[in-house]
Amino acid sequence: MLRPHRFEQEIDPGPVQIQARKVAFDVSEVPLHWIPGHPVASNIIGLLNVVLPAAERWFVATYNEALPLVKDPRLAEDMRGFIGQEATHADTHEKILNDFMIARGLDPEPMLRQVDHIFSHVLAPSTAPDPRRWHGSEEVEHRNVAHDVAVYFHDSYLDRIRSMGLAVTMLAGFFQRGGWYLCRTDPEADIGWWRMQVLRAKDSKLGLLPKYRKLFGRTTLTYFRPNYSPEEVGSTAQAVAYLASSPAARAAHL
Ligand SMILES: [Fe+2]
Ligand SMILES: [Fe+2]
Repeated sequence: MLRPHRFEQEIDPGPVQIQARKVAFDVSEVPLHWIPGHPVASNIIGLLNVVLPAAERWFVATYNEALPLVKDPRLAEDMRGFIGQEATHADTHEKILNDFMIARGLDPEPMLRQVDHIFSHVLAPSTAPDPRRWHGSEEVEHRNVAHDVAVYFHDSYLDRIRSMGLAVTMLAGFFQRGGWYLCRTDPEADIGWWRMQVLRAKDSKLGLLPKYRKLFGRTTLTYFRPNYSPEEVGSTAQAVAYLASSPAARAAHL
């Protein structure tokens, strides 16, 4: 269930123009456990609404700072598209955090403080499945930009794997701790630590959550290949096809 839908024959549309879509999602009727019967998967995926606004605003600030230094017009255009998409992602996740998670009794404040600390101090200076699919599709559209910018400014394999090592360790820690925090304080379910691990493993088996071993292990290791390119991850054809049919993206004002 919920496997990505790939077509047997896909024609890569080539480079796409990266542009922000001003989307709107109505979450007023969505229950807290928005994957019915799966509170752990609902909470762990809900964590993205806690971490992404700060992370994506940090991307925006960093890219805005780097933009005047980029002399390659094609890369600069991609970066402007990236900045627009990430700024919209941040606003959308923050709105879902407020209108959905906080409105249903969750208190993300302690996690928000940690996330804010990481992005504003450590890294300074510089419901519905549709929000996830829209976000994921735009991530695929702009998946090359961060890599291209990193290579443009500082093409170092060693620094690249050092940064990924740090990022993946922090993310794994955040998802363990954050998932447990949301389950522990969930106003609609009583889930102990062990039960959370068991339910998480079950939800991963069902395809509702990625397997941590795969996400933080095998998938991360592919990044360590010296000739790694984001181009191999995901499918532009699939992303563009989804964005062309997504109700939110179609209704969006560009
Ligand atoms: Fe994003
Ligand atoms: Fe992104």
